[in-house]
Amino acid sequence: MSAVTAETFTAAADGDAAALKACCAAVYGQEWLPLLVGESLHPGGVELTRHLGNRLQLGPADRVLDIACGSGTTSILLAQEFGCHVTGIDYGATQIERATESAAVAGVADQTAFEVGDAESLPFDAGSFTAVICECAFCTFPSKAQAAAEMYRVLAPGGRVGITDLTVNGPLPEILQGVAAWVACVADAQPVARYAAILTAAGFARIVTEEHNDAIAKLIADIQTKLMGVSILAGLGKIDLGDVDLGTARAMARAARQATRDGLLGYCLLMASRPAG
Ligand SMILES: C[S@@+](CC[C@H](N)C(=O)[O-])C[C@H]1O[C@@H](n2cnc3c(N)ncnc32)[C@H](O)[C@@H]1O
Repeated sequence: MSAVTAETFTAAADGDAAALKACCAAVYGQEWLPLLVGESLHPGGVELTRHLGNRLQLGPADRVLDIACGSGTTSILLAQEFGCHVTGIDYGATQIERATESAAVAGVADQTAFEVGDAESLPFDAGSFTAVICECAFCTFPSKAQAAAEMYRVLAPGGRVGITDLTVNGPLPEILQGVAAWVACVADAQPVARYAAILTAAGFARIVTEEHNDAIAKLIADIQTKLMGVSILAGLGKIDLGDVDLGTARAMARAARQATRDGLLGYCLLMASRPAG
């Protein structure tokens, strides 16, 4: 997978939307990342995905779109446990290759399809899906309003959207701002009420929210522990961290842990539906 070039990083720091997306895709395509966060690239892991599937009442008749599917863990679980057909899209070609391979290994190749795509410009016809899922990625989209409008467009009337994502409830310390923190799903996370307002403005109704703050606190604590192992493996030359600076990663994890204790950082689940009429 291609590393983030200095030009892309600089453009992202200047707020260039395509560069920000490219940075996210490059980081989450790194082979060693699951060593830090697990195969499910979001707080709450597969348990929260299962809970979301239950809350959305997914079933075999559903055609689900998993936006920013990463390496496919959410899509595969939904196909296996709820029997639905799942299409996953992600900005990163590496993620799509891995998701396609993993779905075949898991025996759900015929229930899944994966392709490269941008959440802000979905490559699907209007009304193609009965449900849309997006885990731990909405916060990274430079135009959340555009992404929400796209979710609405590709859903059939009566379709449901389910999002899990980071929340921020006040000003963050400087180390949790900037491109690295944006990619880590922190810098542009919003209060849950703001996410709800974005969905409402896109046309969604019946918005339901849940707090899952314990999930982010646990993930950050796990990452702090696992950073030690990653550091040892990198020192032994077993993994290539590229430009990632472990000192900065440790400092960011410490600051994020404090922000969860202070009630600044949290995790939420949101559900809404496209009105049937
Ligand atoms: C934190 S990971 C979450 C992956 C997956 N949803 C999960 O929970 O396991 C964020 C993912 O969002 C993808 N992504 C970021 N911006 C995107 C965009 N504009 N369109 C599609 N995918 C995007 C990244 O490539 C990355 O794989």
